[in-house]
Amino acid sequence: MTTVSDKICFILDNEWVELDFMHTASLRPVTTLLNFLRSLPNHKGVKEGCAEGDCGACTVVVAELNTNNQLEYKAIDSCLVFLPMIHGKQIICVENLEQHIGKEIQLHPVQQMMVENNGSQCGYCTPGIVMSIFALFKNHQLPEKEVIEDALTGNLCRCTGYKPIIDAAAKACIHNGKDHFSEKQDIITKQLIDFKKENKTIILKHTEQLYMLPQNLKDALALRKQYPKAVIISGATDTALRQTKKGEIIDQIIDLSQIDELKRFENTDKSMLVGSSLTLEKIKTEVQKSFPALSNILKIFGSLQIRNLATIGGNIGSASPIGDTLPFLFACKALVKLQNADTHRTIPIEDFICGYRKTMLAADELIVAVEIPFIPKDAILKSYKVSKRKDLDISTVSACFSLKLNNDHIVNDIIIVYGGMAAQIVRAKQTEAFLYRKNWERNTIEAAMKILYNEFTPISDARSDAEFRKLACRNLLMKFWNETD
Ligand SMILES: Cc1cc2nc3c(=O)[nH]c(=O)nc-3n(C[C@H](O)[C@H](O)[C@H](O)COP(=O)(O)OP(=O)(O)OC[C@H]3O[C@@H](n4cnc5c(N)ncnc54)[C@H](O)[C@@H]3O)c2cc1C
Ligand code: FES
Ligand code: FES
Repeated sequence: MTTVSDKICFILDNEWVELDFMHTASLRPVTTLLNFLRSLPNHKGVKEGCAEGDCGACTVVVAELNTNNQLEYKAIDSCLVFLPMIHGKQIICVENLEQHIGKEIQLHPVQQMMVENNGSQCGYCTPGIVMSIFALFKNHQLPEKEVIEDALTGNLCRCTGYKPIIDAAAKACIHNGKDHFSEKQDIITKQLIDFKKENKTIILKHTEQLYMLPQNLKDALALRKQYPKAVIISGATDTALRQTKKGEIIDQIIDLSQIDELKRFENTDKSMLVGSSLTLEKIKTEVQKSFPALSNILKIFGSLQIRNLATIGGNIGSASPIGDTLPFLFACKALVKLQNADTHRTIPIEDFICGYRKTMLAADELIVAVEIPFIPKDAILKSYKVSKRKDLDISTVSACFSLKLNNDHIVNDIIIVYGGMAAQIVRAKQTEAFLYRKNWERNTIEAAMKILYNEFTPISDARSDAEFRKLACRNLLMKFWNETD
């Protein structure tokens, strides 16, 4: 294995910080970035609202190298980030935005616009809002209103003062991202590249926990073989809640978030290969043209802060009955690529997910990628999500339809997949069989809806009762027909 270190390092306030978990009693590997920052005397700006990724009060910006060694600025929810996940990155907090020039304090353009447009309301949400706008500022010049709203989706404000905040964001983003961070960007990039070259696997042994942070796939597979019971994490947006909300002590963790080999994105003639640790925000951008059915569903997946952390491997690994990428992956007949230290195998996603939050993953394997075949030019693919709120909400019912008609408008091929209708993602095979070779017309769809209504027995829960789910499931087929006829 590559050299091992028992410390993590990152840049905060323009200084390298080294954290030694062995000799700092108050720190555990799963201490969140939020709790660490708030334990410092000069970083109380970051706030805890919900501690589960829903409110954005804890938003900070991480500046990290992408696989091409370019610096990217991303807003993230620090309440979901375990400290080792920031190893080798720069953390930017609200306190870092202003500049001190002599005795003068010069606000960052984002802060200045918040002041001038009366965007600042309560002190609880404002720091997180400022950090989300700061990430927007670094990534977009003159963004459309839709882009601004997306950047702020993960920041809740109960006093409903969004209008001046959106105005402030629009007025701040006219600077082409130029600010005092731009002046230091080359130096920071070089420092992070030099640091990355050290390529040390981090092994943090704490009294109650072993946290492993491999830097390459070979080391990750070796650790997986040695510690088959360890919990794997990629973005940790699901797993962090086990620790922070349920108070569970996860005694062994293998964190894949630093492995570039798992962040591949490749197009071949026939398919798209997506590394398991690629974040959903990255995928959303990459597939806008090739797979609108995926990018549209990702636009309403969590919030930008969540999508900047959450990965496709994590969504597949969770095998949730309402995992939002899964109906799409089923409808495309995606293939899950698995690897252990000695060999690899490929399994259709429909076989890989085998029960309520159950998969075929062996104890020594990792999901390394998912291969998504391109759909034929004459096929139609559409995804839908029904939830109580449009943004930052999980699905009550979700669906993806793939359809091929012949020249006479007869169904040549149809795949209908639902989330939220059973203990796992399911295909509506009876309805598919009924529709096969039928005329794609309203009468056929109405007859199919009757079959669909009785095909599943969903549960009632906090999000909806079973009857609503059955009706939504049935009506989504009519919606799809309306949009394709
Ligand atoms: C506020 C909030 C909003 C959310 N909104 C949505 C939403 O709209 N739609 C939705 O579907 N989900 C949502 N989620 C859930 C979560 O973000 C997604 O499931 C996400 O895709 C998980 O990815 P991750 O990388 O963070 O997973 P992690 O927490 O890292 O892992 C999740 C599971 O996958 C396993 N795993 C991860 N990577 C691998 C790998 N390479 N090999 C093997 N196993 C692996 C882990 O062991 C774990 O069991 C939300 C979560 C939060 C906190
Ligand atoms: S504290 Fe609410 S998102 Fe982190
Ligand atoms: S800014 Fe805090 S509730 Fe509106």
